[in-house]
Amino acid sequence: MSHEVVLIPGDGIGPEVAGATRSVLDATGVDIRWVERSAGAAALETHGALLPESTLEAIRRCRTAIKGPIATPVGQGFRSVNVALRQDLDLFAAVRPVRSLPGVPTRHHDIDLVVIRENTEDLYRGIEFERGTPDAAALRGKLHDLGGFQIPEDAGITLKPISVSGARRIVRFAFEYVRANRRRKVTVGHKANVMRYSDGIFLETARTDASDYPDVAWEDVHIDTLSARLVRSPQGFDVLLLPNLYGDILSDLCAGLVGGLGLIPGANIGWEYAVFEPVHGSAPDIAGMGIANPIAMVLSGSMMLRHLGELKAADTVDRAVDQVLGRRQIRTADLGGRASTVEMGEALANEVTRSEVA
Ligand code: NAI
Repeated sequence: MSHEVVLIPGDGIGPEVAGATRSVLDATGVDIRWVERSAGAAALETHGALLPESTLEAIRRCRTAIKGPIATPVGQGFRSVNVALRQDLDLFAAVRPVRSLPGVPTRHHDIDLVVIRENTEDLYRGIEFERGTPDAAALRGKLHDLGGFQIPEDAGITLKPISVSGARRIVRFAFEYVRANRRRKVTVGHKANVMRYSDGIFLETARTDASDYPDVAWEDVHIDTLSARLVRSPQGFDVLLLPNLYGDILSDLCAGLVGGLGLIPGANIGWEYAVFEPVHGSAPDIAGMGIANPIAMVLSGSMMLRHLGELKAADTVDRAVDQVLGRRQIRTADLGGRASTVEMGEALANEVTRSEVA
């Protein structure tokens, strides 16, 4: 069966890791017809927009995409492309599997957890009022009238909406994920004791809807306590279910536990579309040097293969990553080695080809 997939190379190290990923996925023999589209700085130059309509249109048509990281220019009035993609395509669930990999020196071992993050609400909803603007002044006035809240004149304001409907779909997604993937337990992270009307809704919805899944164990933990427990004994966790902001922060923390951002894949899933991407950003400090680790995007590719029903090929890619890392011969700089992005890509693609032949 042939699959049409949109490939967005992205910014910074994006094109480097995307090239390696494409060669590894092609080596599986799965018939992927790549539809390359741009977003980010490259698109701003060629299309005059960070997220061109032609890119969105291609994803709507193919329904599946894989992307490299995209840098959003800071402080120039641009809406984050990543946030825009997630909102415009309603990719409400971010799924980030974090597992200990062979041959990667880390403090902890035997970590095997999945971060499931709500992707469209919360402080990342993008509802912001700039300090000193008439809108910020009007909002401060309204808040004063409504609840006597005194907000300093020199404050910027970001709002944190969390809805029952938004919480419900991610809660059910997480519990369904546990069932479908034979996992054990959901841990809900929140701060409902302080943010009663936003995190409170997240927790309440989890509590209500968990009763529909009597076969799935669950617990709730305050986000600060959860952070401390994660760095002490991450093996105690299975599936973490988190609102948007906490999910963003803790998935990077979890990446650090298993060897860094260069290793952690991700998927953004909605009812209609799925966009796969590494958790890391465009890494401007090493962009263009050819030393980025492509594994995070390669593993995002294996998640994509699984999503497309190509289970055997996905397993082959995962195994190739384990085998190449386990041999400790080819390692990129972030893992203490000297291999280039291209060399790592070639080693993985060769490993995939070898196991396809075997
Ligand atoms: P970053 O993830 O780009 O970099 C953090 C550190 O990790 C850097 O030292 C970098 O060299 C290293 N690193 C990241 N990926 C690596 C890889 N594959 N191999 C080796 N080392 C790697 O985070 P930062 O610096 O906060 O963000 C840079 C830009 O990326 C920003 O414009 C940000 O908005 C964007 N970004 C985009 C994301 C996306 O497209 N999904 C996600 C996160 C950030």
